[in-house]
This record gives sequence, C-alpha cells and structure tokens, in this order.
Amino acid sequence: MPQTPPVPPSPRLRDYVAWHDAYRDPASELSVRLRHVQQVISAEFDARPGTVRVMSSCAGQGHDVLGVLAARPELYNRVRGTLLEINPVNAAIARERITSLGVDLRVVEDDASVSDAYVGAVPADLVLLVGILGNVSVEDTRRLVAVAPQFCAPGATLVWTRGSQEPDPGAEIRHWFSRAGFTELSYEEGMEGTSMRMGVHRWEGATPPLRRGVKLFTFLR
Ligand SMILES: C[S@@+](CC[C@H](N)C(=O)[O-])C[C@H]1O[C@@H](n2cnc3c(N)ncnc32)[C@H](O)[C@@H]1O
Repeated sequence: MPQTPPVPPSPRLRDYVAWHDAYRDPASELSVRLRHVQQVISAEFDARPGTVRVMSSCAGQGHDVLGVLAARPELYNRVRGTLLEINPVNAAIARERITSLGVDLRVVEDDASVSDAYVGAVPADLVLLVGILGNVSVEDTRRLVAVAPQFCAPGATLVWTRGSQEPDPGAEIRHWFSRAGFTELSYEEGMEGTSMRMGVHRWEGATPPLRRGVKLFTFLR
C-alpha cells in the first residue's frame, strides 16, 4: 500500500517536521540553541530535589528535554509532565521516544495557542517556551509573557528563546518578563556567534489561576 504523506496542520505554516532536520547538523544555529537549552534543563534537574514537572509548549519532537533525559538515565524517574504539540508527526516522534525511554511524560496533540490546552499540564516546575516567540507577533509575545505566570508553579524556571527575526523586540522581552513578576536568572544573546538568544527566569509567586478560553498567539509562519 502506498503511504499517504502527512498533512501539515495549516498550509500557512512551514513544514515543521522538516524544520527539525537542522538538528542533524551539530553546527547549525538550531543545534547551538538546542545545546544551550539542554544545559539549562540539565542544570535544573541538578538544582531541584525529586520530581520535576515539565511543560513544553510547541514542543516539536521534544529534542530539548528528551535529549537531556536520553543522556542522563539517572533522571528517568525524576520527570513528569506534558509536551504540547499540534503537528501529529512531531507528536508521534516525541511519543515514540518517550516510550523508548520509559519516562512519565505525555504528548498532548493540541493547539497550544489556546489556554485550554494547558489544563492538566500546568503548573509546572520547568516551563519551556522554546521556538515560539520568533514565529508570533510582538503583540502576541507580550500577551504570552503576561500569561506565563499561569503556567508556573511557585519556584518554577521558565526558558524562552528567540532569534533576531524582524520585527525584533530585542531585549524588550526581558523587561516584559520582569514586569510580569519574573526574576531573570540568565540571558544570552548571540550565542556562539549565532543570532539566537535565550532567557531564563524564575517565578517566585503563587500560581495565578489558569484563565480558560484565551487565545494566546498565532503562528505566522
Ligand atoms: C520552531 S518549532 C520548535 C520546536 C521545539 N520547541 C524545539 O525548539 O525543538 C515550533 C513547533 O511548534 C509547533 N506549533 C505551531 N503552532 C502550534 C500550536 N498552535 N500549538 C502547538 N504547537 C504548535 C510546530 O508544529 C513546531 O513543532
């Protein structure tokens, strides 16, 4: 039987399965970014006792958190959480990898741009907003940052990334996180000569209730 090619979720969007091919080249900008994000994730497991609840929005194939776990079997029984991903092929690849690792993560194939998708997935101790902000409008970035406390357990760490695609709000994003009540733990710009930047923030407050039915962002490409 001939195989039917998978249908991308929206014709407006890039092929987000093929997008992951850049990870095969260790010198690609995305691989550089991935390694930096993985270092933060790995350090979070070292800094926290017990189970770490992870929520990755627009998780793709889960290379960041699953890559860390694959390299560190001693963490297998210390992770729980949810990867939210809309693309069924990416979701299936992540799910398969989770099954082979035997870890307590689930992939929810859902639209992470609507707040309802986060029910049961938050609050988390480690919140990954990786590979989102460069694909949504500046206004949506502000909105997502303002809503992000609703994803965070007290003491949570949130990681975001963005390249320098125009229109580029630049370091403004850092101020939006501060204004939303986060404490900045680290910020990297132009990592290893790339256009990539990453912010890491701590949420110290109580978790605000998750507001349902809110449209958070629209992927533009
Ligand atoms: C740039 S990739 C980043 C993937 C992953 N976070 C990483 O850094 O490797 C963006 C991902 O978001 C997914 N995506 C796009 N719109 C989405 C939505 N509304 N809800 C959930 N996932 C979405 C795409 O399918 C893609 O896998």
